[in-house]
Amino acid sequence: METKLKPAGRMQITYDGKTSELPVFSGTHGPNVVDIRSFYKNTGCFTFDPGFTSTASCESQITFIDGDEGVLLYRGYPIEELAERSDFLEVAYLLLHGELPNKAQQAEFNHAITMHTMVHEQLKRFYNGFRSDAHPMAIMVGVVGALSAFYHDSTDITDPKQRVIASHRLIAKIPTLAAMAYKYSIGQPFVFPQNRLSYTANFMNMCFAVPAEEYKLNPVLVDALDKIFILHMDHEQNASTSTVRLAGSSGANPFACIAAGIASLWGPSHGGANEAALNMLEEIGTVDRIPHYIAKAKDKDSGFRLMGFGHRVYKNYDPRGKVMRKACHDVLGALGIKNDPLLDVALELERIALSDSYFIEKKLYPNIDFYSGITLKALGFPKSMFTVLFALARTVGWIAQWTEMLEDDSQKIGRPRQLYTGTARRAYKPIDRR
Ligand code: SDX
Repeated sequence: METKLKPAGRMQITYDGKTSELPVFSGTHGPNVVDIRSFYKNTGCFTFDPGFTSTASCESQITFIDGDEGVLLYRGYPIEELAERSDFLEVAYLLLHGELPNKAQQAEFNHAITMHTMVHEQLKRFYNGFRSDAHPMAIMVGVVGALSAFYHDSTDITDPKQRVIASHRLIAKIPTLAAMAYKYSIGQPFVFPQNRLSYTANFMNMCFAVPAEEYKLNPVLVDALDKIFILHMDHEQNASTSTVRLAGSSGANPFACIAAGIASLWGPSHGGANEAALNMLEEIGTVDRIPHYIAKAKDKDSGFRLMGFGHRVYKNYDPRGKVMRKACHDVLGALGIKNDPLLDVALELERIALSDSYFIEKKLYPNIDFYSGITLKALGFPKSMFTVLFALARTVGWIAQWTEMLEDDSQKIGRPRQLYTGTARRAYKPIDRR
């Protein structure tokens, strides 16, 4: 990646009678950054930022979020336009290469992905090692990491060709592995990929087809899931993407890095929120019980949070949430589901929360996970598969970010420091003197 940092002045820090000057840089959009790489050398202090609320961990040219304006851009294109007008593999090409493909590039990329959708037959044995009630995310962490044992020809991260083939293998095989995790959990036989189908149609066929009869794909549902995948593809330096970058900074192979990203995404504060949000809606159950849960969410001691609400960056409506809500209505409409009680609860919960002073003051809006659970459930997926679908889509973003990191000349192994507040140095005491 060619750096595009633009000098934007200098910042003076005065401490302990000494003044240091730090360079400030600007980018294309968003806040400027103060370059603190010489901060410790100049001041003898570390910076302190648990949770990285004020820290830019890298320069990136892939995705941009304006949390105040509720804007999300993939390589400069607004997410709403891509979700409406593009498709999964075209947006995948955009994230990986920086530009929308022309017809020839799209055909070549689609062919490269399609020709890698099958998995090694021996990989299937890993599934039998899991209990049948294993959470599909536990299976995904295991089998994606295991891929590194099958592709020794694409784990040398210093070889650009091997980085590309590993990237194509991961994007192509993640849906197959995810569908296999689902089939394993319901005791049905694995369904082979069908190269005649589009990326998302192929995934739905592998999930819902059975050898005993033809599975009829509903184009409205395939289109809705394709949109949902586009919404989930990338999102700047979120927890799981930062995990992938940190793992990759040590030179770990791409399969292991993506497995690390899947593990981080599983958390209920992150990608696990879609499953948690549906659990919450089911627990609330009816509209009249909403005030009780709103009160619990405001009570710090309750430990309860409205899942699907709030975001580290969005302090306005998550633009993906708006597209998600429309996709939800499209899917329920296509399925002839007139009154989904969970949707009634969700719509009323959203209405109340958006008018409640607590949520307004804390700028807590519905995020992408709020409506995705209802939509994915209507599409036929069990709750335990919701975060797997998130991981399937986010694999493209993780790979784009991992590649960008490796091609960034300034990158080095990530190794944060700390503030030690433990016990001061002391001598060992023999047991008879303790
Ligand atoms: C994703 O980072 C990404 O980009 C993630 C993601 C992506 O695409 O990769 O967008 C995907 O992870 C979306 C978020 C999904 N998570 C949830 O829906 C879980 C519920 N939300 C929260 O736990 C929370 O909002 C976070 C984790 C999402 C954000 O937490 P922050 O930024 O660390 O904010 P915070 O925890 O400091 O909360 C700020 C205040 C607190 O109150 P005070 O301490 O200031 O009094 O808001 C309150 C919180 O108590 N608050 C909530 C709340 N979320 C925050 N109160 C009630 N319900 C909530 N959901």
